[in-house]
Amino acid sequence: HKNGLQVAIDGPASAGKSTVAKLVAKQFGYVYCDTGAMYRAITLKTIEAGISLDSDTKISKLAMTTKISFEPDENGQRVFVDGKEVTEDIRQEDVTNSVSAVAAIANVRQELSARQAEIAKDGGIVMDGRDIGTTVLPNAEVKIFLIASVAERAQRRYKENIQKGINTPLDELQLEIEARDYKDSHRKISPLTKAKDAVEIDTTSLSIKEVVSAIAKVINNQLNVN
Ligand code: CDP
Ligand code: CDP
Repeated sequence: HKNGLQVAIDGPASAGKSTVAKLVAKQFGYVYCDTGAMYRAITLKTIEAGISLDSDTKISKLAMTTKISFEPDENGQRVFVDGKEVTEDIRQEDVTNSVSAVAAIANVRQELSARQAEIAKDGGIVMDGRDIGTTVLPNAEVKIFLIASVAERAQRRYKENIQKGINTPLDELQLEIEARDYKDSHRKISPLTKAKDAVEIDTTSLSIKEVVSAIAKVINNQLNVN
């Protein structure tokens, strides 16, 4: 692609996708795009509008008419919905617990996947999500599938929450993660699965640095091939 490779990073909740994707993007001078933030943005707007989570038609219409934009900053990216910053708001617990329902709606996926493909079309991008390697960028030169044990992932989310002053019990977080993974893996349209040509990395006992260098190695191999 004109601006460089397309790098797709998929995997279950809290496997470390966004953390390492940002660092990998920085290392290669690529753009970082968090597709989960787009699903979260539509979910936040759905909740704020008082729309019920089973109103597929209303939520689809809302997805079609909502402007989502990103602005890079030193911590990754800021997220805007219709011009209003929602970077923090889209991480709220009620959004996290509702996002899988919104992400299962066919028209919502169609709309957001098309926008994601457009953002990535010239390459030079690291895009993370659930269906990037399988559906959004099926021809991505680099596909990574990040996994980690659910206990480790709950522990990571727990630590993240503590830093934000939130103290949700560890077992509750683990149940929330399991429920979301189940919904994301079992939905009809583009469920969370590893693409056949993806490189799987188990990050359970790896540091962030180790994961970043494992991915950088895959990218460098690919760059040498081209
Ligand atoms: O909480 P975490 O950072 O792991 O999740 P996220 O990447 O922010 O994604 C939130 C939710 O959006 C996921 O649980 C999926 O339901 C949905 N999603 C999706 O369906 N497809 C994507 N490409 C990205 C996210
Ligand atoms: O995007 P995703 O939901 O896959 O994960 P994340 O939001 O990047 O969160 C992962 C959390 O685990 C962050 O707090 C990281 O600091 C931490 N972590 C990691 O990402 N990778 C490791 N190898 C170890 C810890």
